Amino acid sequence: MKKFLIIANWKLNGNYKFINKNINLIKKKIDNLLNYCNLSIAPPFVYLSYINNFLKNTSISLTAQNVDIHIKGSFTGEISIKMLKDIGVKYVIIGHSERRLYHNENNNSISKKFILIKNNGLIPILCIGETEKQKKQNETEKICIQQIDNILENSNINILNKTIIAYEPIWAIGSGKSANMNEIQKVILYIKKYIASLNPQIAENIYFVYGGSVNYSNLDIFLKKKIINGFLVGKASLTTENFISLVKKAEKIISLLNNRS
Ligand code: PGA
Repeated sequence: MKKFLIIANWKLNGNYKFINKNINLIKKKIDNLLNYCNLSIAPPFVYLSYINNFLKNTSISLTAQNVDIHIKGSFTGEISIKMLKDIGVKYVIIGHSERRLYHNENNNSISKKFILIKNNGLIPILCIGETEKQKKQNETEKICIQQIDNILENSNINILNKTIIAYEPIWAIGSGKSANMNEIQKVILYIKKYIASLNPQIAENIYFVYGGSVNYSNLDIFLKKKIINGFLVGKASLTTENFISLVKKAEKIISLLNNRS
């Protein structure tokens, strides 16, 4: 059984005060309750090492929000995959729509990052998703497949094995307007079928995560059909008490669903 993965994407938020309170409470209130969920924290780069010290002897892992395409050299301001590995990072988010939009990242650079992460033994979380305009033009599946295909063109299907694909419709991120479960199901099953046509076992080994305005009140809807293997949570991960309630609720619902089937 795949454990459900909840990734807290803090984006450009957090400071020592927030971390000390947040991580201690998370450790105290949920770490030992988790049987069906795995938790990962994605803070800004500068706090990764500090947070890792708190996470020793817990089941909680560390996620980086980005990585450079170079391993070392004259690339001022960048962070390499070897450095992330060195400080204990497990997952790396790439292709987030905010990076595509504000930092000119494209499918080509994202595909290089994906391959680099995988080849260095870390797990890429590839964010894909359509804009509102593309959705209106019924281009969602086409856009998502293009975002994946670019990686396959630069490597082969094995590169996708045991990785994470986060379907994050751009219009749903931070907007308070999440996608509905039928839409999510349609997209994820389409992608899964596409990958299965290339290699069925690899399609099974991929984690399909949803992100876009997931919160305590709406998470039940996403869990019931058992299509999604995790959440990428932005805004709702920034209020400690709410985030703890969200994780507890997910754990409870998943345990009920599993014991029922
Ligand atoms: P949100 O962000 O939960 O605030 O919509 C999700 C994300 O960008 O990963």
